[in-house]
Amino acid sequence: MLIRLLYISRAKGAITTTVTGSILESARVHNRVAGITGILCQGQGLFIQILEGERSSVNRLYATIIKDKRHQDVELVGLEEIQTRQFPNWSMAHVIISENDPIIQLKHPEFDPFTATKTQLLALVDDLLMNASPIH
Ligand SMILES: Cc1cc2nc3c(=O)[nH]c(=O)nc-3n(C[C@H](O)[C@H](O)[C@H](O)COP(=O)(O)O)c2cc1C
Repeated sequence: MLIRLLYISRAKGAITTTVTGSILESARVHNRVAGITGILCQGQGLFIQILEGERSSVNRLYATIIKDKRHQDVELVGLEEIQTRQFPNWSMAHVIISENDPIIQLKHPEFDPFTATKTQLLALVDDLLMNASPIH
């Protein structure tokens, strides 16, 4: 049974490219083995991540991620069964959230993931994806 899990969190301290690089490196190695795909949006001191995969695998990874000291205030936004993956080919894509991004300015000007609904967050991820060149 496939599920999609969406969570948000706040970065602890400065998130440098080294930190992001090490997160993505372990994500890409581990996710491929665990059959997990998804996207990590990061920037403005925030993370928004979507994890897709078998329910047990996603739950196991999420339990690891919430204990990770590189972020805090981890908040589960949604978890649902899915028939197909949105990101079948991406073990973990990476998209930067920048306040200078016209998508943020025009479509999500008062963007605060901690008050946004799941629908708004999924729409933001879609908008970022349509206009960014995700690294995967
Ligand atoms: C915001 C964030 C997202 C993460 N996403 C993933 C992920 O998708 N897959 C993964 O294996 N680890 C991810 N991690 C890292 C895990 O928390 C954990 O450090 C890692 O799985 C341990 O890998 P290692 O055993 O190779 O050190 C993430 C960490 C953070 C802070």
